Amino acid sequence: MVKPIVAPSILASDFANLECSCHKVINAGADWLHIDVMDGHFVPNITLGQPIVASLRKAVPRVQDTTATKPKAFFDCHMMVESPEKWVADFAKCGADQFTFHYEATKDPLALVKLIKSHNIRAACAIKPGTPVDVLYELGPHLDMALVMTVEPGFGGQKFMIEMMPKVEALRAKFPNMDIQVDGGLGKDTIPHAAKAGANVIVAGTSVFTAADPADVISFMKGQVAENLETRGLLE
Ligand code: DX5
Ligand code: ZN
Repeated sequence: MVKPIVAPSILASDFANLECSCHKVINAGADWLHIDVMDGHFVPNITLGQPIVASLRKAVPRVQDTTATKPKAFFDCHMMVESPEKWVADFAKCGADQFTFHYEATKDPLALVKLIKSHNIRAACAIKPGTPVDVLYELGPHLDMALVMTVEPGFGGQKFMIEMMPKVEALRAKFPNMDIQVDGGLGKDTIPHAAKAGANVIVAGTSVFTAADPADVISFMKGQVAENLETRGLLE
């Protein structure tokens, strides 16, 4: 059983007003914040690192923090970096709730999953569009989430790759109870494809942060995912 989750990608937010932008999407129904970390090596772009995540953690408390009064959210860190092993301890410390590494960036994915979990955060593995889905079959039982990229990682605002949907279908068939995330080009127009394929965690940057009514976009996407999960008997 899994639930519909929408994770706005802060890459599309106004970084000069990050706290405010994040509170706005959380109040509009976002469950997670998707934090895209890029190092200029694994992908041809640089975004943000530990100081920003640590500051944002103060502005957006953990979901488990019962004394907090500010809007809370789960921090979903998408690590588009070389040698992800190097950064697990730092990101766990600065407030990550989940560490998603790229399969292509590591020689020993299972050891990395174990390292991440030893820091008491969730472990997830992402695959780029050119990586076949079967690399995740053996790792799947150890993962909290799999991420099927629906654009080439590196930039927001790209076109959704519908041809990635068979990967999502295959993962959902093998792992009915695993969180399966899609990332890139998701919005009201493309969500039907991702929902139909069985994805339940939806990353959306441009479509949420530039929306006149983010609550409408988020609830539409959650509704589509919920409908599909219900049909499969998997809605939590
Ligand atoms: C791309 C990033 C995505 C990106 C999504 O490398 O991993 O998370 O921010 O942005 P949109 O939703 O605008 O495609
Ligand atoms: Zn991402």
